[in-house]
Amino acid sequence: MDTLKVLVTGSRGQLGKEIYHVLEKAGHQVIGLGRQQLDITISEDVLNTFKKYSPDVVIHAAAYTDVNNAENEQEEAFKVNGAGTKNVALAVHEIKAKLVYVSTDYIFNGASRSPIPEDTEPSPLSVYGQSKLEGEKYVKEILEDFFIVRTSWLYGQFGNNFVKKMLEAGDRLQKVTVVDDQFGSPTYTGDLAEAIAKLIMTDKYGTYHLSNSGSCSWYEFAKKIFELADKEVTVVPCKTEEFKSPAKRPEYSILEHGKWKGNGFEEIRHWSNALEDFLTHYLISS
Ligand SMILES: NC(=O)c1ccc[n+]([C@@H]2O[C@H](COP(=O)([O-])OP(=O)(O)OC[C@H]3O[C@@H](n4cnc5c(N)ncnc54)[C@H](OP(=O)(O)O)[C@@H]3O)[C@@H](O)[C@H]2O)c1
Repeated sequence: MDTLKVLVTGSRGQLGKEIYHVLEKAGHQVIGLGRQQLDITISEDVLNTFKKYSPDVVIHAAAYTDVNNAENEQEEAFKVNGAGTKNVALAVHEIKAKLVYVSTDYIFNGASRSPIPEDTEPSPLSVYGQSKLEGEKYVKEILEDFFIVRTSWLYGQFGNNFVKKMLEAGDRLQKVTVVDDQFGSPTYTGDLAEAIAKLIMTDKYGTYHLSNSGSCSWYEFAKKIFELADKEVTVVPCKTEEFKSPAKRPEYSILEHGKWKGNGFEEIRHWSNALEDFLTHYLISS
């Protein structure tokens, strides 16, 4: 089968929208449902909608993603990321589709100092991370076969993200202060969507770590954004403890791509190449 019927939850979000476009361009029949069309916290709506469309694959990109607010809205975060994902997994089981659940590096505590393999014991520092991990547990409990895709530091053309924030700041300010003691892999949503598009054509189920390759600190990331965008902005390094932020974030969240490479997929390009590519197109179109 060359083309599939794919249903995307959270299709108005940063990643969901990108996945929608990438899959549609690849010739798949894509049903994109934003929160208005499908609230994943209402179990009967999830089941009825999945039965109505009967997709081959469900890509579950809907989530409560406000990491700081989740600290005060614990119930809502768990309702969407935990119970909502349970609803999605149960409905996927009922209609016998494939599921891709998008998860996060924030399920880890950041204590590692080498790239994190997929089988590392999760230990989230934040409510957001805990709620996403609960989603993973439901997926594993309910389904025999599934794709869990953990990713990190997303940016792209849709939604709000660090790259867009830096570009906007660069239009107004000559100086920005950015933390230099958190390390990760910036990931372009276009590359992640392409990787997910490859995965769904296979039965190579399991838990994957997918991010652009290479790594940096947020400080290095910001410097690269301004360099590539040709903006003269001074980036001042600072420490996480200087920023009062409600949610704790992992210091180190570089994901190892063992399962991806082990299953014969080509390593995803370096984050700086992806960023350059993204900025070239984004800056021309905006
Ligand atoms: N952003 C990152 O850096 C990052 C890193 C690692 C993993 N992830 C994961 O990647 C996935 C996509 O994230 P993103 O950056 O695209 O986030 P996003 O832009 O916030 O998109 C999430 C979407 O989910 C929708 N949503 C929230 N509650 C819902 C509900 N009850 N029912 C249906 N839809 C609901 C949101 O709708 P509203 O706008 O109406 O609230 C939003 O459109 C998430 O699973 C996230 O945990 C993100």
